[in-house]
Amino acid sequence: MSFEQFMYKGVRFSTKIHSEDSLSFEENEFEVFDDDVFNITYPKSGTNWMIEILNLIKHNGDATISQTVPINQRSPWCEAITFKDQVAKLTHPRFITSHLPYHLFAKSFSTSKAKIIYTIRNPKDIIVSLFYFVKTLSFFKANNNFQDSIDYFLQGKGMYGSWFDHIKSWMQIKGDSRFFFITYEELLKDRRGSVVRLCKFLGKELTDAQIDSVVEHSSFNSMKENKMSYWSDVKSEIVDQTKGSFLRKGVSGDWKNHFTVAQSEHFDKVYQERMKDLNMSFYWEQE
Ligand code: A3P
Repeated sequence: MSFEQFMYKGVRFSTKIHSEDSLSFEENEFEVFDDDVFNITYPKSGTNWMIEILNLIKHNGDATISQTVPINQRSPWCEAITFKDQVAKLTHPRFITSHLPYHLFAKSFSTSKAKIIYTIRNPKDIIVSLFYFVKTLSFFKANNNFQDSIDYFLQGKGMYGSWFDHIKSWMQIKGDSRFFFITYEELLKDRRGSVVRLCKFLGKELTDAQIDSVVEHSSFNSMKENKMSYWSDVKSEIVDQTKGSFLRKGVSGDWKNHFTVAQSEHFDKVYQERMKDLNMSFYWEQE
């Protein structure tokens, strides 16, 4: 598995969607406002799901925007080449997405009151999701060898670098009042409770009916039925959705259908070694 890439400050990026300029703009020039809300994830952790939820919360459960504006325009990626143009069109409060590790994130965040929502997912499920997703990307050379995907992930060869480094970088600010941490699995288990917690963090007071609407319109099936939720406007030269779906399965634990026992044991060994200094435990470590 490989892609057309370049390194920026030790992290791998795609020549198709990033550039030195776009990364430098985001890091050094982009001005963060106090009412900005950032949706941060490592790829395939539920990024688009969180965009959907946050936009519905922003609009008090009204799905009109979700059903008329493509998801990638509602909350654009601040590291992307397209961001400079997109950011000028965003209404406040701005909802912005990023896959960047903390050390490459906008410098002006540090002096702002902007909020960060960080979503993390079982890394074994990320590997599975990525295995299928890269087949749809024109700038990826994908293959059918699942072991390659595991090696690629464990060696940190992917776009945005190592998952372990990503988690560790953002966990440096986990005690900060501007930082909200949630797992993909919590969203699956209790979407309503998660929405209520998100509203509290964002200072949004929604009625029960408005919360119900957020929950309803962010379900896997609702998003699958909404063309604006799965990048249907993006040219097939970049993402070819005849080769796979953005909304593939939407479950937790699909890794069990893909990893052999030996692959899982090897993964766990590397995981334990790489995570031992983090001093946090996650539900999937008990699985
Ligand atoms: P799978 O490939 O395991 O199905 P990202 O947005 O970060 O690229 O993450 C994509 C993953 O989130 C995909 O996982 C996708 O199906 C899942 N996802 C997106 N919307 C979802 C929803 N409403 N409910 C559950 N999972 C969702």
